[in-house]
Amino acid sequence: MSQNDQEGKAPVRGLQDVVAGETRVSYVDGVNGMLIYNGYDVRELAEHTTFDEVVYLSWYGQLPTRSELASFRARLVSEMRLPSQVISMIRLAPAGAHPMDVLRTAVSALSMFDPESGDMSPAANERKLVRLLAQVMTIIADMHRVRSNESVVSPDPGLDIGDNFLYMFRGRQPDEEEKKAFDQLLLLHLDHGFNASTFAARVTASTLADMHAALATAIGTLKGSLHGGANERVMEMLDEIDHVDMVDSYIQGMLDNGKRIMGFGHRVYRVEDPRARVLRHWSERLCHRAAMADLYAISHRIEQVVLAQKGIYPNVDFYSATVQHALGIPRQYFTTLFAASRTAGWLAHVMEQYADNRLIRPTSKYIGGWNRKVVPIAERG
Ligand SMILES: CC(C)(COP(=O)(O)OP(=O)(O)OC[C@H]1O[C@@H](n2cnc3c(N)ncnc32)[C@H](O)[C@@H]1OP(=O)(O)O)[C@@H](O)C(=O)NCCC(=O)NCCS
Repeated sequence: MSQNDQEGKAPVRGLQDVVAGETRVSYVDGVNGMLIYNGYDVRELAEHTTFDEVVYLSWYGQLPTRSELASFRARLVSEMRLPSQVISMIRLAPAGAHPMDVLRTAVSALSMFDPESGDMSPAANERKLVRLLAQVMTIIADMHRVRSNESVVSPDPGLDIGDNFLYMFRGRQPDEEEKKAFDQLLLLHLDHGFNASTFAARVTASTLADMHAALATAIGTLKGSLHGGANERVMEMLDEIDHVDMVDSYIQGMLDNGKRIMGFGHRVYRVEDPRARVLRHWSERLCHRAAMADLYAISHRIEQVVLAQKGIYPNVDFYSATVQHALGIPRQYFTTLFAASRTAGWLAHVMEQYADNRLIRPTSKYIGGWNRKVVPIAERG
């Protein structure tokens, strides 16, 4: 590489619109505001299927039959156990550690206790798909129980994985409406094209690192406030607004100061995020049920003001915050739930990457200068 090679090279900032690979898992249609999972419109999937059916679709390419779903559910729930050492590690985490950091660390730790972590055969990887998704759910539920000084709850074999999560996290069985809302929340977060964390997982997988490594990479990437961490920040913003009458001046003040409104805007969607539409419904429904109608009113007003002022729509994180809050999930866990659902998508991408791999290794425009002469340390003063 020389100075001449660099000429005419212009990096694409943020890799916007760069086609970095192929995938069957999902497609984000930013112009028409559609999200497709393996050929199906996500809104139709949300209406007619469950999270675990869509996990099956992502991993095996088709929706399961009734008997396939029954055995898949049984496998998932039977894998929701953690090695005792990993529960001990969760207990050792400082009380102030962010749950995303604990989750990332626990996933890393799991690799040391999984006898198949280094086995890259397709059969072992398929077993790890099921095990890892199940274990991520349990890590989050157990972390919350341990940190609340409550005993951990064993999964109920009669419940599916999403219902089991709510049961193990809160210690009580969810009712039918909670089950439906939570299941749709998981389903809508499952995959989203080549977003930052998915791309990060694929980069790691492309080095032929194992699935635990790819998953830990993805969790680390999701944490940022421009990605999955936005849902937690939405709740912080809602906390600062006491009444719906304050919304207009609050948002105006943020925009005047050049601040970003969390839960709004998207790299790909130019129209409304289809996931936000479904979650808005659940936010309204659950907030009313939980005597939090004011919170929904404030959220809805924020949406109107941001759209009027900036022409920007809410993304998946905006209403997911109030849905989770109304379900009794503390805000510091919001992003871990995004991670739990997205684990299914990340792992589907990792399998795709393994199946047709080429090391992902882009290049860069060098801006570091040329022909500098080394001055030995003794002469540098
Ligand atoms: C998601 C996000 C990172 C996409 O960013 P991007 O594609 O790089 O878009 P840009 O940062 O180039 O923003 C384009 C314009 O919209 C504005 N904008 C984008 N999102 C905004 C937001 N949430 N609040 C206020 N303005 C926003 C930017 O200020 C910029 O305006 P300008 O051209 O006048 O400077 C961005 O919308 C954002 O920061 N959103 C808030 C965080 C969030 O909700 N993340 C979750 C994503 S699912």
